[in-house]
Amino acid sequence: MKAAIMGYGTIGSGVAEILRVNQDAIASRVKEPIELKYVLDLRDFPGDPEEGKFTKNVDDIVNDPEVSLVVETMGGVHPAYEFVRKNLEAGKSVTTSNKALVADKGAELVRIAKEHHANFMFEASVGGGIPIIRTLCTCLTGDVIEEITGILNGTTNYMLTDMSENGSDFDEVLRDAQAQGFAEKDPTADIEGYDASRKIAILTSLVSGKTVDYKDIPTEGITRIDSMDMRYAKKMGMTIKLLARMVKADGSYCCRVAPYLLNPDHPLFSVNGVFNAVFVKGNMLGDSMYYGSGAGKLPTASAVTADLVSMALNIDRDVTIGWSEEKLSISDPMNQENRYFVRARVGIGDISRSFPDAKIIDAGYDNETAFVTGKIREGAFKEIMNSLGEPVSVIRLA
Ligand code: HSE
Repeated sequence: MKAAIMGYGTIGSGVAEILRVNQDAIASRVKEPIELKYVLDLRDFPGDPEEGKFTKNVDDIVNDPEVSLVVETMGGVHPAYEFVRKNLEAGKSVTTSNKALVADKGAELVRIAKEHHANFMFEASVGGGIPIIRTLCTCLTGDVIEEITGILNGTTNYMLTDMSENGSDFDEVLRDAQAQGFAEKDPTADIEGYDASRKIAILTSLVSGKTVDYKDIPTEGITRIDSMDMRYAKKMGMTIKLLARMVKADGSYCCRVAPYLLNPDHPLFSVNGVFNAVFVKGNMLGDSMYYGSGAGKLPTASAVTADLVSMALNIDRDVTIGWSEEKLSISDPMNQENRYFVRARVGIGDISRSFPDAKIIDAGYDNETAFVTGKIREGAFKEIMNSLGEPVSVIRLA
């Protein structure tokens, strides 16, 4: 069976490496070898083990009837979308690691694949090497999924872990993460929560069978978390994590990406560093959790290669999942009940009047008051906070 890789960056070269290193194991599972025939990239790679397979023209792949399996690891929506589409329309099955492409065009590409008796797979687009998409689509199919809460971004988890363990400042830890290659040169999508938002949109789409627009998901990143928030968290015996959540609510699903305070008994409390984890609650299964490397060359390439194997085994069968282009109207986040940690420049009297069940947190700091509210609807909380003036910091409790 012949394959092609479009985009020979970190992940694409990782897929080529796995096809070389694990060729016998893969051949025994597929009952024939998967042979890499083309690598599409605009750059040259002299001396590369795949030398001789490089092309700069996508049509070499599209027009080659020998190629039945295609990997897209270019990143970005364009021209990845056009290249994936061309290959699906030519009847080739495609796997991608590209969450931007899947979040924007996933349902459409699933439909195009079906129309051309091909498969479109995207296991690596969420949770890197953690097999969360296959778990939701083919394992937990007897359950109604009631909640997914994930640490889905390795960069921000690395940063928050460092801030929590070493008391580092946000700017300092971001520079360190960039120096270590965890954070991108432009870290906006990670630190503002957009990356996690796209990932929870994909998971919610798969659970609902409709399309969740990630732009509808209320998203807060970690840029407002400072070392003082971390000190308060420690004082309370808690930690702060960027969570991407969806819960079944009001006949639909309510989604949010935001930093949350977690107690030590929360299953995601100990997920540290660049690791990802996804907590899934099914109405019959109860609680379950999936943990592993959410990013990085070989873990992500491992998920892409597993898709290649699956596409090879199902070359004549439609195994694409039910994901329609119909838009899912997500539930109003203002109806969600939460507990909130607040730092504000107001007196204890004002706090007790506004939140009678609030618990004051005394961390020994003079010019602000910190407290944790009881459970309250987001809308009601916001109204009260408007009357109290701009807070220094607000973090929900998980
Ligand atoms: N920037 C992403 C992360 C890469 O830090 O998790 C994996 O999607």
